[in-house]
Amino acid sequence: MKRVFLTGASSGIGLAIAKLLVAQGYEVWGTSRNLERIQKLPGLHAVGLDLTDRLSIEEAFNTALADADHFDVLINNAGAGHFDPAELLPMESIASQFQILVFGQIQLMQLALRHMQARGDGLVINVTSLASRLPVPFMAAYNASKAALAAFTMSIQLELADSRVHIVDLQPADISTEFNQSVIKTTNIDRYSTKIAKTWKIVERNMKKAPSPHLVARHVLKLINTVRPPPRITVGDVFQSKIAPLIFRFLPQGVRLWGLRRYYRL
Ligand SMILES: NC(=O)c1ccc[n+]([C@@H]2O[C@H](COP(=O)([O-])OP(=O)(O)OC[C@H]3O[C@@H](n4cnc5c(N)ncnc54)[C@H](OP(=O)(O)O)[C@@H]3O)[C@@H](O)[C@H]2O)c1
Repeated sequence: MKRVFLTGASSGIGLAIAKLLVAQGYEVWGTSRNLERIQKLPGLHAVGLDLTDRLSIEEAFNTALADADHFDVLINNAGAGHFDPAELLPMESIASQFQILVFGQIQLMQLALRHMQARGDGLVINVTSLASRLPVPFMAAYNASKAALAAFTMSIQLELADSRVHIVDLQPADISTEFNQSVIKTTNIDRYSTKIAKTWKIVERNMKKAPSPHLVARHVLKLINTVRPPPRITVGDVFQSKIAPLIFRFLPQGVRLWGLRRYYRL
């Protein structure tokens, strides 16, 4: 049965993926910064990993690999966001977002690819976000990080054209998880307070009515069982995952900005 390395297996999308995969008989090495947060399930092996720490990433992957013997699938899922005006975002916060959502993920992807290329087979699923294409206001570093990982993923897909190692960019739209609870907000400045409050209200409303993370888990299971997985999939409710991106694709940039400002009531 396939062996999977899955980051962020302690909650939300990662937890749903871990549960579904082990229920199907897969062996999953699932990560958290706190081992206690990984559910005790048959087939789910807890791994300590902090994406802010390069050494932790390398050690976690290599230790899990030694335990597992090989990985058929890497799912780069872990992530967290900032919510602040772009104009005032401290450089440290931007760097932190890029470390967690881009550099850490690329490091893991390279570790996995080295080993998958040697075996001549494998699948990497990078969980980016629809925000890479339809940015959420006050999440500039998050949006930019997700767009960077999406572009990096597309570049690797070009380079691996003749390989049996496949890379998928999985872009969730809003999915109901604990993501908003861990979003870091630092700035409280009058000039932006009304806009921030309006946007956050919509972000929270969307999260409440969003589909469950099991929807993403079911798509992941399908990807793992597909011989030629698609390069990119978008997962969410029909409007966010199908209609909005389709309309957006054909609009001039000015109209896109107008539409997004209207949507967030800015
Ligand atoms: N929910 C959505 O609407 C949505 C939409 C688009 C994309 N996404 C993406 O989907 C992925 C999963 O998010 P989620 O919604 O499931 O959120 P979540 O419920 O908050 O789960 C986030 C996971 O990431 C882990 N994590 C956070 N910071 C980490 C760090 N510095 N190092 C290692 N692990 C870290 C957490 O583990 P510990 O705290 O236990 O360490 C947790 O398991 C993220 O990449 C997110 O950007 C989510």
